[in-house]
Amino acid sequence: MLTRTLLLLPVALATSYPVSAQDATLGKSVFKQCQACHVVGPGAKNMVGPQLNGLAERNAGSAGSYGYSQAFKTKVATDSPWDNDALDHFLRAPMEYMPGTKMAFPGVRDDDERTAVIAWLNNIGVNGELIDAEAIPVAAIEPVADSKGIQEADLTLPEDQPIPEHGQLHLGRVALDEEIDAWDIDVRPDGTGLPDGSGAVTHGVEIYDSQCATCHGDFGEGKGRWPMLAGGFDTLQNERPEKTIGSYWPYLSTVFDYVRRAMPFGHSRTMSDNDVYAVTAYLMYLNDLVDEDFTLSAENFQSIRLPNEANFIADTRSEEPYYAPETEPCMANCMEEPAKVSMRALVLDVTPSGEGDEEVSGAGAVD
Ligand code: HEC
Ligand code: HEC
Repeated sequence: MLTRTLLLLPVALATSYPVSAQDATLGKSVFKQCQACHVVGPGAKNMVGPQLNGLAERNAGSAGSYGYSQAFKTKVATDSPWDNDALDHFLRAPMEYMPGTKMAFPGVRDDDERTAVIAWLNNIGVNGELIDAEAIPVAAIEPVADSKGIQEADLTLPEDQPIPEHGQLHLGRVALDEEIDAWDIDVRPDGTGLPDGSGAVTHGVEIYDSQCATCHGDFGEGKGRWPMLAGGFDTLQNERPEKTIGSYWPYLSTVFDYVRRAMPFGHSRTMSDNDVYAVTAYLMYLNDLVDEDFTLSAENFQSIRLPNEANFIADTRSEEPYYAPETEPCMANCMEEPAKVSMRALVLDVTPSGEGDEEVSGAGAVD
C-alpha cells in the first residue's frame, strides 16, 4: 500500500489541480447528471459509459475492456491522459466535439459547472480514492456501489424482518400514493391524464434550443443519428418515408406523453409540466401546425389534430370472413407442406455491409 501511494503521489501532483471545497461540492452535484452512465469510487465498473476513476492519471480511453466508439478512438489521443482543454470541449458539447460518440449527453454548458466537475474528477485516483482528501469532505465520494446504483446496504434485510401480509406473494411493501402518482402519468388521445398547466411556443423555443437542439437539430431536422421531429410531409409513400411527429404520428397526446416521460434523453422527468406543454407547443410550431403566438394548455389540447390521424384505422380483421372462424391461433403443424426458402436476407439487402451504413439509414429504415 505504502509503495503504491509513494509511486502515485508525484503523478497525481503533476496532473491534478487544487480543488476547493466549494468546487468539490458543485462538482459532485454536477456529476449527478453523469451517474446515469458513469461510476466513480472504489470498485467502480464500466456501465453505459466507462468508469472514470483516475481520469487525470490514466490514458484517455483506457477503462479496462470498455468498448469505445470508433469516433472516440479517431478523435482522442489514447497514448496520454486527457488534456484539460480537450476534456472541457468534449464535456461542453460531446456530440459537436466528437460526432458519432456513444456519449449520448447534451453537455454541461455552464463554464463553472464544467470546471467544477472536471476538478472533482481529477481529484479521484485510479482506485477510486480521493487524491487530496482535505479539499473535500470525505462524504463527497460515497461510491455508487454497483452498476445498478444500488448501495450494498439496501440489499441486506434484517433477519427478523416480518413477512408482509399484503398481496398474494407477500413481498415488498404497499406502494405509496405518491409513488403511484409519479408512475401513473400516461396521457390518452382523448386527453385523459393531462396534468393542469400550459406553455407558450415562445417559451418552448427556449427550452428546445437549450435542451433538445443538440440532438434533434435547430429546427427539428435531426442531427447525425438522432431522430428528426419536424417535416417529412408527403413522404409516407416513399420507399424511405420520413416519419416525424408531424408527418406520421396520429395523436398529440403521444408527443406530450413521450416527451414528458422520456426526454431530454438521459435526463427524463426533469421538465415541469408547464415546460412540457411549452416544448410540445413549439414542436407543433416547427411542424407548421400552430402560429408563434400559440399557447398549448390542458383546455385547448383537444383542438390540435395531427395531419396523419385519419390514416390510422381500427384493426377489424377479426370480423373479416377470412379470419373470423379462427378463434384460436394455430400453434402446431400449421403448414400443409414443408416450408420453402423463398429469399435470403443477404439478397434482400437488409444486412448493412459497411460501418457507415448505420449513419445514413435512420429515418424511414424498414421497421
Ligand atoms: C447517457 C450516458 C452518459 C452520460 C449522461 C455521460 N456520459 Fe460520459 N461517456 C459515455 C459514453 C458511452 C462514453 C464513451 C464515449 C465513446 O466511446 O464514444 C463516455 C465517455 C466519457 C469520458 C471519457 C472517458 C475515458 O475513458 O477517456 C469522460 C471523461 C466522460 N464521459 C465524462 C462524463 C461526464 C463528466 C459526464 C457528466 C457531466 C458524462 N460523461 C455524462 C456516456 C455518458
Ligand atoms: C442526448 C440526445 C437527445 C436530447 C438532448 C433530446 N433527445 Fe429526443 N430523442 C433522442 C433519441 C435517441 C430518441 C429516440 C429514442 C428511441 O427511439 O428510443 C429521441 C426521440 C424523441 C422523440 C420521438 C421521435 C420519433 O419520431 O420517434 C421526440 C418527440 C423527442 N425525442 C423530443 C425531444 C425533446 C422535446 C427534447 C428536449 C426537451 C429532446 N427530445 C431531447 C435523443 C435526444
